[in-house]
Amino acid sequence: MRILIDQEEINRGIRDLADWTHREFGDKPLTVVGVMTGSLLMLADLVRHLRMPLCIGLIQASSYRGGTQSGNLRVVDTMLPQLQGRNVLLIDDIFDTGQTLESLYRHCLKEEPAQLKTAVLLRKEGVSRTIFQPDHTVFTIPDEFVVGYGLDYDEQYRNLPYIGVFEACDQAAHQRA
Ligand code: IMP
Ligand code: MG
Repeated sequence: MRILIDQEEINRGIRDLADWTHREFGDKPLTVVGVMTGSLLMLADLVRHLRMPLCIGLIQASSYRGGTQSGNLRVVDTMLPQLQGRNVLLIDDIFDTGQTLESLYRHCLKEEPAQLKTAVLLRKEGVSRTIFQPDHTVFTIPDEFVVGYGLDYDEQYRNLPYIGVFEACDQAAHQRA
């Protein structure tokens, strides 16, 4: 698989994200909310760099299969702690059209956090269909399908320690396996 971002670059990017998080929130208590399942690796690596009192929450958004409208998302928030009055950082693996992050941002906002910011590991160039923007992007990438470091194709490849471009030949190999 063609490697787009290697392990060392990812580590540097996560450290930059941690520095940004400290600048944004200082040493006040923070809740980091990870979007399942893609942000799990990023979440685990990020929180180990953070020094403020910290809670972890999880949220999931899945698109309605066969739904008529795109952007019709089902939100699962059973693993979300109390956000009211808290400083909250919502993180996701990738900002593609932006619909997922925007919906989850709005969902979290209803809980009345003191502050709510968003950060994504990857952002695809020129694909966003919303004026909503993440507050922090670690890497901007070309509009290609990527896997690894949390990102999946058909629920596989999330465990790769790098981010690779999933090309037609990789898809053919996946089909054969
Ligand atoms: P959005 O709502 O279009 O921004 O899509 C975000 C979601 O689509 C992400 O959380 C991923 O689950 C998935 N996604 C978008 N692009 C990719 C990709 O290149 N590889 C793997 N998953 C992707
Ligand atoms: Mg995802």
